[in-house]
Amino acid sequence: MKPLLEVLRATADYFARHGVESPRLNAEHLVAHVLGKKRIELYMEFDRPLGERELAPLREWIRRRAAGEPLQHLLGTVEFHKRVFATDARALIPRPETELLMEHVLKEPLPESPRVLDVGTGSGVIALTLAAELPHAEVTAVDVSPDALALARENAGRLGLTPRVLFLQSNLLEAVDGAFDLIVANLPYIPGGEIPGLAREVQHDPVLALDGGPVGTELIERLIDAARAHLKPGGRLALEIGIDQSARLAAEMERQNYRDIRPVPDYQGVLRFLFATYG
Ligand SMILES: C[S@@+](CC[C@H](N)C(=O)[O-])C[C@H]1O[C@@H](n2cnc3c(N)ncnc32)[C@H](O)[C@@H]1O
Repeated sequence: MKPLLEVLRATADYFARHGVESPRLNAEHLVAHVLGKKRIELYMEFDRPLGERELAPLREWIRRRAAGEPLQHLLGTVEFHKRVFATDARALIPRPETELLMEHVLKEPLPESPRVLDVGTGSGVIALTLAAELPHAEVTAVDVSPDALALARENAGRLGLTPRVLFLQSNLLEAVDGAFDLIVANLPYIPGGEIPGLAREVQHDPVLALDGGPVGTELIERLIDAARAHLKPGGRLALEIGIDQSARLAAEMERQNYRDIRPVPDYQGVLRFLFATYG
């Protein structure tokens, strides 16, 4: 038997030695998960003795986390904009930057019953957040990956939003009909050659969710072009983009006659979002 606090400390030390970022936080999440508790509840139980029945499964999880498996894959869920979504290797683990994208998008006025499109929906976080927050919206979500779409549909079911979102397999907008008040996309934007050098946790995201082409902006540029035929007059395009891509992509938008082009920073001050209006 070992007291919980000692297990937490030993796990955090082990994670630190194996290059896990935020080692104590990771240790708390995994221990809480194995005990079926909320992380915050651990603070009331530091003296609780843990026996082999609890330690044995924990050891396996600690080994996997120390080997670089993302915490979110081990927990199986992630919190995104006030809701809990399933996450696994079928789609990108949703990132905090994308939650910020949601806040910006939801701040801007929209018609009473807007038509909204999420391109590259992955786990469905953008489409499902918008469906939940905009109860009169008609939401379509597309992805080229059947695996991602399967996960997104599962998330729609978990959140009771299945009737609210139309999921379509589509290469960008090829299978999409009609015009929208808002098109949102967090498409892959990493230059293909940089992917092998990314953190080992990121290597667990599907390559299809990361690889934006040789320069990184290719898919987004194709969307900027294709979206013009699918935006209502005055419709908005809201994009998450990579580091140092805003000038190039804003110039592309200008060339394609978008207006009110607005780069917006993330929490780190990186120009991470690009908003524009068409028509
Ligand atoms: C960076 S992930 C974003 C996932 C999710 N929207 C999020 O924010 O967490 C990009 C998504 O775009 C999808 N994708 C890649 N190429 C695509 C294409 N040509 N057409 C549609 N979706 C594509 C990938 O499968 C992946 O799910």
